[in-house]
Amino acid sequence: MTAEAGLPDTLRDLPTWTPDAVELADLELLLAGVYGPLPGFLGSFDTAMVIGGGRLADGTPWPVPVTLSVPKELTGHDQVVLQDPEGVPLAVLQVTEVWQDPTTQAWRLAGGLEGLRAPAHGPFHSLRRTPAQVERPDGPVLAVATREPLHRKQLGQLRQVAEGLGAQVLVLPLLGGPHDDSLVRALLGVRKELPEGARIIPVPLPPRDIGTDRATVLHAHIAAAYGATHLLGEAEVEGTAIPVAVPEPWAYDADVEVWRPVARIEPDHARAELTAEQLGDLLDRGEPVPDWYTPPAVAAELAVARPPKTERGVTVFFTGLSGSGKSTVARALADAVIERGGRTVSLLDGDVVRRLLSAGLTFSKADRDHNIRRIGYVAAEVTRHGGMAICAPIAPYAATRAEVRLMVGAVGDFVLIHVATPLEECERRDRKGLYAKARAGQIPEFTGISDPYEAPDDADLVIDTSRMTPDEALDQVLDLLVDGGWLRPA
Ligand code: ADX
Repeated sequence: MTAEAGLPDTLRDLPTWTPDAVELADLELLLAGVYGPLPGFLGSFDTAMVIGGGRLADGTPWPVPVTLSVPKELTGHDQVVLQDPEGVPLAVLQVTEVWQDPTTQAWRLAGGLEGLRAPAHGPFHSLRRTPAQVERPDGPVLAVATREPLHRKQLGQLRQVAEGLGAQVLVLPLLGGPHDDSLVRALLGVRKELPEGARIIPVPLPPRDIGTDRATVLHAHIAAAYGATHLLGEAEVEGTAIPVAVPEPWAYDADVEVWRPVARIEPDHARAELTAEQLGDLLDRGEPVPDWYTPPAVAAELAVARPPKTERGVTVFFTGLSGSGKSTVARALADAVIERGGRTVSLLDGDVVRRLLSAGLTFSKADRDHNIRRIGYVAAEVTRHGGMAICAPIAPYAATRAEVRLMVGAVGDFVLIHVATPLEECERRDRKGLYAKARAGQIPEFTGISDPYEAPDDADLVIDTSRMTPDEALDQVLDLLVDGGWLRPA
């Protein structure tokens, strides 16, 4: 690693690239030596073997394809500097293969890495350690790799398994979700309930769609890299680097008010459980999570990560043709919510956004997508901070609306309303005279006339303003938001 100075002279002329969040996490783990057998980002053959059979081309078991996508322009270089989102150079990739993903057609670079400096983005950096920085105790080490806080049941199981093995405990919070900070605080908050000397080391590992078995193999590999001899898990899985220790089932004995192994609960004693769904309902309603279920420090973090619905950020996204009545209903909604009080509102109306945030964009597919992504970005920020974002663009493309739903859904709630006023009615109204111009060929690519509108099949509400008054339309939207819990009944 070089000092914190700028890029060495020899590297200044190299192209730079900022990998996405998953790739940056992979980069960090590659540089830290956590991804042991991997030489760097994988090439086409290794990737195909990993996806197909969970092994690298040389036969070493490996559960996930660790790859790097780049734009086509970057495929003509032997070396590329990889940098973090702030533009700080992290590593030089020595390109050994340029390949194209057979399914997505994305361009990828494979090759080994030369680290320039340890990545330093993301919260709780002071807690992070590379495996080389971690002391290795003599005896067994039991690791827990988790994206969820540890509640009283898991804490009891962990203590029991650790005691049985005579093991030290290593907790590995897996970062990469929207509530990483809550997760780490919830684990730090139960330190006293963990066995003496337990260590907590956050590991950047955004969730991937690889199934539980492969996830277990990956977690076991990471735990082993940090010196663990056992991984606490729900089931044994073939091919793990270290054995999975499966705890016996525990339950809450409501008669004597303790958690204990089910085998040790008297048959006539009442047991209590709280399913994930019941827990979610409690949080949605803002009711306290019972102390028997989880320590207060964890309960407090659960409420931060999932606030009561009346306080949770929400994006209300209207989509529909020009002249369908989106803006009218959206504006009426914004006024009604402000009048009721208790919520802050940001209105992102189609025409207004086009004058400010998206000034200069055209109505080509690419520019419409840019426009909707910008609206989605702002709406997600409003939502993250607990506000209500009301958006009213045409948003003609289903895939782009889905992107916004995903972006917002990671930080709060998303409600889609299709203002499905028929084209004939929009054209009959033609308040801005645009349909007449579009028919006359003066406005090209006009939605509904000479450009597509993909009607949503995932709308939470469909309203047709040719069949109801504006007040009736507003009432339907308000009912939806009250029923869903985002607004208190008037
Ligand atoms: S979107 O497709 O990118 O979502 P947006 O909602 O921002 O569209 O802008 C739509 C508004 O721009 C319409 O209400 C209309 O007033 C105006 N407009 C101008 N040209 C077009 C066009 N070619 N297609 C649709 N709307 C247009």
